[in-house]
Amino acid sequence: EKGGYDYFMLKEIAEQPKAVADTLLGRIDGAGSLTLDEVRIPPGVLREIDKVVIVACGTAFHAGMIAKYAIEHWTRLPCEVELASEFRYRDPILDAQTLVIAISQSGETMDTLMALRHAREQGAKVLAICNTNGSTIPRESDAVLYTHAGPEVAVASTKAFLTQLVACYLVALYLGQVRGTKWGDEIRAVIRDLSSIAGAVDQVLVTMEPVRELARTLASKKTVLFLGRHVGYPVALEGALKLKELAYMHAEGFAAGELKHGPIALIEEDLPVVVVVPSPRGRSVLHDKIVSNIQEIRARGARTIVIAEEGDEAVVPYADHLVRIPATPTLLQPLVATVPLQVFACELATARGNEVDQPRNLAKSVTVE
Ligand code: M6R
Repeated sequence: EKGGYDYFMLKEIAEQPKAVADTLLGRIDGAGSLTLDEVRIPPGVLREIDKVVIVACGTAFHAGMIAKYAIEHWTRLPCEVELASEFRYRDPILDAQTLVIAISQSGETMDTLMALRHAREQGAKVLAICNTNGSTIPRESDAVLYTHAGPEVAVASTKAFLTQLVACYLVALYLGQVRGTKWGDEIRAVIRDLSSIAGAVDQVLVTMEPVRELARTLASKKTVLFLGRHVGYPVALEGALKLKELAYMHAEGFAAGELKHGPIALIEEDLPVVVVVPSPRGRSVLHDKIVSNIQEIRARGARTIVIAEEGDEAVVPYADHLVRIPATPTLLQPLVATVPLQVFACELATARGNEVDQPRNLAKSVTVE
């Protein structure tokens, strides 16, 4: 049932192009409009929404962090993202004009369920993004947008994460469509690129052998750091989470702009640092800033592992290891940038002799608070 792969995780990483395509299927029509009939919240109600709040845990929380960038940029609605386990304990401000989005692969995560119950008690509308048909979270929500990743068996979430991102982009674009905000050439270009993004994910998968080789050489390291900016920051957090749960290594993700506010003190000779580089097109200021960060850490001895778009030549002199990803619009980059980090963590876990599909101390769905 592992389809010839040694681990479910490897199989699920390989299934990502299909999972992404399946999640998009039937939701964008030929004219580039979104048809999200499942979102049964009437357009009139969505037009009245004045705030979006996303609740989720773990990897799903990282998808939510990325969704915030897309929702705020495309709809101009303020969006908060909160760890579901913290949410109801801080007395959040919610009312009938709040749209709460609960993201969960399993649909059974107790922290997320309690957060959505709290939100509904306060009168907020709850939309679930979920991979499991008929599970508790969608059943208790006002509406659900299913991700079509298929069953995810490995404890470490991979294909569910990519499809959560797709679903978040669809919701963000749909809100933009319904509310008529910022609906222009950029959105049309994004919809076009999103429709063909499965091919880009596939392109990344076929170039992963050097990442595997690199991971094997790092098996005896104690720490790996991850840096990113903008949507690359949650990607860095996700890379670090994968490494913790699978390789049992100390790993931390930072927003690269924070380096100088503390974390740069951690840099020492031969410390592996993975850097997710934003596209040099679009928000190129961020690109230039991160290139300086790579220079700074390398000057202090870091071993730089740079994930950068095809054609980005500025990073070449400072990359000890360079991983290329296809060019995408900035907001969609996490769909391709996360894949090498999944492969990296999986290979490191294998090299360290860990049980990839069933990491110690973890369960696939966490049904206690
Ligand atoms: O089923 P859920 O998406 O609600 O699960 C949330 C987290 O428990 C989950 O993403 C966890 O962090 C994964 N093990 C990460 O790989």
